[in-house]
Amino acid sequence: METEGLINRVAILGAGRVGTSIARTLIDAGYNVTLAGSGDPENVEMIAAITAPGAAARWAREATADADLVVLALPLHRLPTVDTAMLADRLVIDAMNYWPPVDGTIAAFEDAATGSSVVVREMLQISRLVKTFNHTGYHDLEPDRRPSGHPERLGMAVAGDSPQDVAVVAELIDRIGYDPVALDRLELGWQLQPGNPLFGARPTADDIRAVTSPVFDVA
Ligand SMILES: NC(=O)c1ccc[n+]([C@@H]2O[C@H](COP(=O)([O-])OP(=O)(O)OC[C@H]3O[C@@H](n4cnc5c(N)ncnc54)[C@H](OP(=O)(O)O)[C@@H]3O)[C@@H](O)[C@H]2O)c1
Repeated sequence: METEGLINRVAILGAGRVGTSIARTLIDAGYNVTLAGSGDPENVEMIAAITAPGAAARWAREATADADLVVLALPLHRLPTVDTAMLADRLVIDAMNYWPPVDGTIAAFEDAATGSSVVVREMLQISRLVKTFNHTGYHDLEPDRRPSGHPERLGMAVAGDSPQDVAVVAELIDRIGYDPVALDRLELGWQLQPGNPLFGARPTADDIRAVTSPVFDVA
């Protein structure tokens, strides 16, 4: 599937540990990155300058308005503070995990047998949601990057319902330095979450294929 060049501008909502580490990998890979927190970009400017040089701090609404892709990298308990209208027609990556020590107990996520991203999609009332980055520690994301074909290259699972959207995100994952392994339904994304074998495991693509199914062919 030809997807080259479809994504250039990426808006990341959340300028914390995960958002800034994703920002750095995207900037290194040549993407145009904006970072937004919950409010005034003045609060993000210094964080961006120090932890993700090259990323522009903007209001979330402005960052998403001209983005080809939006990455959600905020704590799940803060999701209700996101203005859903700005995500309506956007391709969105859900990098978030339900983490009760931080999020508290949230019944919708406790009961989410098909994974937190299915709940996120319902809460946000959006259609184009792809789940990735979730099984990787923010501190591993940069040091574990390897060029394509490197014998120690690791894998990254990418789950979503649209083969086209999954392929676009898979290309981004490949560009930042991982072998993407596509899971062909968003509801298979629970396998990327805390408490499951992939989480924190730093798996290769073959490791991911060995514990998940079914998968798209994104070659
Ligand atoms: N830690 C890991 O290794 C890891 C790995 C994979 C996934 N995750 C998941 O990634 C998510 C983020 O974790 P983190 O450790 O990066 O959190 P964090 O360091 O606490 O950062 C949270 C960020 O979210 C921002 N935020 C809150 N509400 C927002 C809104 N409505 N719009 C835009 N930004 C908003 C905060 O900005 P303000 O300061 O303005 O509130 C802050 O910049 C969590 O769901 C976590 O479970 C974590």
